[in-house]
Amino acid sequence: MKELKIESIFQVYNDLNELPNDISILMNRAIEARSKAYAPYSKFKVGAAILLENGEIVAGNNQENVSYPSGLCAERTAIYYAGSQYPDSKILKMAITAASSNQITKNPIPPCGACRQAIAEYEIKQDSPIEIFFMGEIGSIMKSNSLSNLLPLLFDKSAL
Ligand code: THU
Repeated sequence: MKELKIESIFQVYNDLNELPNDISILMNRAIEARSKAYAPYSKFKVGAAILLENGEIVAGNNQENVSYPSGLCAERTAIYYAGSQYPDSKILKMAITAASSNQITKNPIPPCGACRQAIAEYEIKQDSPIEIFFMGEIGSIMKSNSLSNLLPLLFDKSAL
């Protein structure tokens, strides 16, 4: 028996003012997208904005459904739109923000497990990392240099 230790390193920015200008622009697009989320059941609105290599920014938000599992997270709404509209443009960065109507979300909200798996698919497809920045409604922003940081021991096609 041996142990395997897997470490992840994240950068933490104190607030929006500390972000580099291009990320600040991207996060503001995510905030704008968040405001348009359809989340009547959870009242938890999430916005995601993606910067593509061709300079385009595409954004999405969570879309809920009365049949709960039929809804979709913001990150997958955005990344599937990017994949469907710009299949040949690499995804460089993603900014995510979440806000609840029950409380002020101060902690950075990372993508859920299903979204991590979906984002991983595009990292593998394009063979280059996607930078992920995530925050709550206010407060600090965390950065991961690659999705793989957020999803160790990834299930990939080598297993098929
Ligand atoms: N949600 C996202 O949009 N992204 C995540 O990564 C976590 C959860 C949404 C799904 C649902 O509409 C609401 O937040 C509450 O789970």
